[in-house]
Amino acid sequence: MNQTIETTTEVTPYVEFWNDTLADKFDRFREILQNGLSYHSRIPLEKLAVTPGSRILDVGCGWGDTAIELARKTGPDGFVLGLDCVEQFLEPARRDAAERGVTNVRFETADVERYPFEPVYDLCFSRFGMMFFENPVTAMRNILSGLRPGGELMFIVWRTIDDNPWLGLPKQVVLEYLDPPGEDARTCGPGPFSMADPEMVSAQLEIAGFEAIDFERIDGPVTVGSSLEDAVRFQLAIGPAGEVFREAGEEAERKRETIERAMREALAPYHQAEGVVMPSSSWTVTAKRPQT
Ligand SMILES: C[S@@+](CC[C@H](N)C(=O)[O-])C[C@H]1O[C@@H](n2cnc3c(N)ncnc32)[C@H](O)[C@@H]1O
Repeated sequence: MNQTIETTTEVTPYVEFWNDTLADKFDRFREILQNGLSYHSRIPLEKLAVTPGSRILDVGCGWGDTAIELARKTGPDGFVLGLDCVEQFLEPARRDAAERGVTNVRFETADVERYPFEPVYDLCFSRFGMMFFENPVTAMRNILSGLRPGGELMFIVWRTIDDNPWLGLPKQVVLEYLDPPGEDARTCGPGPFSMADPEMVSAQLEIAGFEAIDFERIDGPVTVGSSLEDAVRFQLAIGPAGEVFREAGEEAERKRETIERAMREALAPYHQAEGVVMPSSSWTVTAKRPQT
C-alpha cells in the first residue's frame, strides 16, 4: 500500500505501523469496529451543541463517519477537516461524503502531532483517535494551537483493560499459550488504554494548556462477531490478543488450533442471538482552550 503524508516529512514508527500492519486488518474488520466504536460516540455526539457555521477538526478520523456527521451538524456555512495518518482509510471516507452529498468536509493524510494548524477551529473531536500519539502532550499542544481561544475539545478513549472485557479476556486467553510481546515489539503507539486514567489525562491536558477538563463514563456492548468463528478471527487479528498472537509468529501458528479452541470456549458465554456481545467502557473527555 502506498502512503502519502502530505503535510509532514517525518514518518514515525507508529504511523508506519498503522499503515503497513494495522490498516488492512482494520479494513477487514471495519463493520465490527465501526459498530462497536459508534456505540460510544452516539450519546456524546447527540448531546454536542454545534453552532451552525462552526469549523471543526476530527483527529484520527479513520473512515470518516464522525467527520461526516459533524459536517451535517455544522451545516453548509461550516467546515470539517478530518485528519488521519492512514490514506487507505480516507479514500472510502471521501467516497462516503461524496455519495451522501456532504461537501463541507475535507480529509487529509497527516500525523496530527505534527500538523501545521492555524488557530481557526471552534471544536476538535476525536473518537478513539487520541491514544496513539508518539508524545501525547505534544499532540495535545498542537491540537490546542488549531483551536481559537475558547475553542472546545471532545475526545473518546477506552477506560482500563479490566473495564473492557471485549479486549481483556481474549488477551488472557492467548497469554495462557504464548509469551507477551517483547520490549522491542512494533506497536501502534502508547495504545488503547493509555488514556484510561483521568488524573494522568487531566495533567497532560493542563500541561498542554487546556482548562475546564471533564470526564463522562459510557458503558456498553460491543458485538465482536456475528458468530463464534467470526469473533475468534477478529480477536486473533486485532487488539491486545491480536498483538500477542502476531508477535509470537511461528509459535502462534503452531498453536493456532489449540488457541482458537480455547478462545471459542472463552467467548461462548457471550454468544447471543445477535452475535458475540461483550462489555466495553469509555471516557468522553471534554476540555477548552482558555479565552486568553
Ligand atoms: C481506533 S482508530 C479510530 C478511527 C475513527 N476515529 C473511528 O472511531 O472509527 C484510531 C485512528 O487513529 C489514527 N491515528 C493514529 N495515530 C495517528 C496520528 N499520529 N495522526 C493521525 N491519525 C492517527 C489511525 O490511523 C486510526 O484511524
